[in-house]
Amino acid sequence: MKLADYKATLSFSNGSPAVDMPIYQGNIGPDVIDIRKLYAQTGKFTYDPGFLSTAACQSTITYIDGDKGELLYRGYPIEQLATNCDFLETCHLLLYGDLPDAAKKKDFTSRVTNHTMVNEQMQFFLRGFRRDAHPMAIMTGLVGALSAFYHDSTDVHNAEHRDISAIRLIAKMPTLVAMAYKYSVGQPFIYPKNDLSYAGNFMHMMFATPCEEYKVNPVIERAMDRIFILHADHEQNASTSTVRLCGSSGTNPFAAIAAGVACLWGPAHGGANEACLEMLEDIQRMGGVSKVGEFMEKVKDKNSGVKLMGFGHRVYKNYDPRAKLMQETCNEVLTALGLENDPLFKLAKQLEKIALEDDYFVQRKLYPNVDFYSGIVQRAIGIPVKLFTGIFALARTVGWIAQLNEMIGDPEYKIGRPRQLFTGSVKRDVMPIAKR
Ligand code: CMC
Repeated sequence: MKLADYKATLSFSNGSPAVDMPIYQGNIGPDVIDIRKLYAQTGKFTYDPGFLSTAACQSTITYIDGDKGELLYRGYPIEQLATNCDFLETCHLLLYGDLPDAAKKKDFTSRVTNHTMVNEQMQFFLRGFRRDAHPMAIMTGLVGALSAFYHDSTDVHNAEHRDISAIRLIAKMPTLVAMAYKYSVGQPFIYPKNDLSYAGNFMHMMFATPCEEYKVNPVIERAMDRIFILHADHEQNASTSTVRLCGSSGTNPFAAIAAGVACLWGPAHGGANEACLEMLEDIQRMGGVSKVGEFMEKVKDKNSGVKLMGFGHRVYKNYDPRAKLMQETCNEVLTALGLENDPLFKLAKQLEKIALEDDYFVQRKLYPNVDFYSGIVQRAIGIPVKLFTGIFALARTVGWIAQLNEMIGDPEYKIGRPRQLFTGSVKRDVMPIAKR
């Protein structure tokens, strides 16, 4: 961290002495005021629900410029990674800091493919779930359960354990997501096939059956791979911060990632892709494009509780660069499958057009986010809506684990322990039950 050549001075209107606080500069992005000694110096905490202005860590992994609509993984623009690299190269980049050369890529790919199977016992654990369980409920359980199967990689303070668990998680997530799907449709689990690409193998485990091979369509394989790249990391979002907070207690990596999966499930975060597609289907059922105006009125009415899912972002106050890439992929996939006239795609484009011209959205700087088009692509590929967030979790696992490993390696890391502004009852005595 580089100390800035200026500092912050906090003064108080009640005559308490002012305090100086150091300021640090990142390589890009806003400077941060170091408030760590604030409580010791003033007896006061800061108040920042939702972390609107608080940096909880330093990180070298992902940088977002929300005003420009720019996303960089280890300095590389997402557009270049999505166009020139595959997901496993991106995983190597996020985990180890740089893109692999050909030899490193071969080695990394072989390490990952070596771990694609899961312990055979996992399927008995999975069979304990109801068939109609939400895949994210199953994923939360399965990922947490990995720590009960892989005892040799659970010590988060051991660098070798951290590396093996990272590889295992990246390798096994597609297997687990596909197993959750197969279980829901009552089909046998399909074992991974290591001569396929990462995305191709996932499609194989999803759609092959013991009686029929699945021929991977290269356009769809590439689209799936791009979905993985676009979701791989997104700096200190809710699920990543959950993984960091959970991992900060020294718990094992599988447990920390399971916490991330649980957080991602919510509709304000990873669950938005499912919610967005359901919203599009609802509008389509109500009459499609002709009902867009009516729907938008509801979105703008604060009492309706209706949001335009797939729109808005805490950090992006401009077009989410992932949404642009996803729209491009959407076009490619629908064309490859002969679905150019897909009514939901038309509807989504119409909603986007209206929103981008509407004062409500313009004033609040609300733009499409990654989830606006990802559901349409996944639906066209044949992925059931309920599995969308599971696929997001699969892709985000590398980001979670890279961030967890970065935190453990940071000499400044401490167990996460936020403070509070207490507004409850002051001390009082328990009355005997007859007098309460
Ligand atoms: N539709 C309608 N109004 C919205 C929307 C939306 N999608 N998003 C934000 N607003 C309004 C919000 O009501 C508020 O209005 P006002 O200032 O009048 O009270 C204003 O815009 C600012 O919104 P906010 O809720 O204070 O912003 P936030 O940073 O707390 O929330 C968000 C960000 C992503 C939770 C929110 O935009 C949202 O709920 N979007 C829909 C869900 C969604 O698409 N989530 C996926 C995020 S990207 C994938 C991921 O990272 O998980």
